[in-house]
Amino acid sequence: MLSKGMQSRVIKIGLMIVGLSVAGAALAQSVRDQQIAERLMPVGSVCLAGESCASGGGAAAPAMAQAATAAFSAQGTYEQYCAMCHNTGMANAPRRDDAAHWTARVAEVGLATIINNAITGINAMPPRGMCATCTDEQVGEVVQYLSGASAQ
Ligand code: HEC
Repeated sequence: MLSKGMQSRVIKIGLMIVGLSVAGAALAQSVRDQQIAERLMPVGSVCLAGESCASGGGAAAPAMAQAATAAFSAQGTYEQYCAMCHNTGMANAPRRDDAAHWTARVAEVGLATIINNAITGINAMPPRGMCATCTDEQVGEVVQYLSGASAQ
């Protein structure tokens, strides 16, 4: 039989071992979490087809830029900002389905002019069709979608 002092020491050591293994498991889990997070992260380091797959920061920027470009949709922007006037003819906005109007208008003044009018606003047409986040180029793309005219 162990003495009372020995017994309590054995129990303490036992508890310490349990404690250490719990702490060890928690540490291992947090390292695993970090590894999983790193594996889930590589949005910026995704290698797109046709791109050289350099590792590190160099590859991240172009991939992110591509993602930002991909997020813009001329049709989506049109539906969100322009459709309420240009699908209905509200305030005499030329309708998107009025192909004859757009063909004649583009032939008359040119696509660049109507894009510029859309950017600056013309009469009841608000500047940028109220798309405050649209760049000039993006307004241009939406105007091409609206008018059916292509810059090429
Ligand atoms: C509040 C209503 C309204 C919204 C929203 C609107 N427009 Fe217009 N738009 C008009 C009206 C009205 C006209 C006709 C202006 C005129 O010629 O007197 C017009 C005309 C235009 C024209 C023709 C310009 C020209 O010179 O013939 C273009 C291009 C155009 N809009 C693009 C857009 C785009 C792109 C959006 C969305 C990003 C948009 N509009 C959103 C009302 C609107």
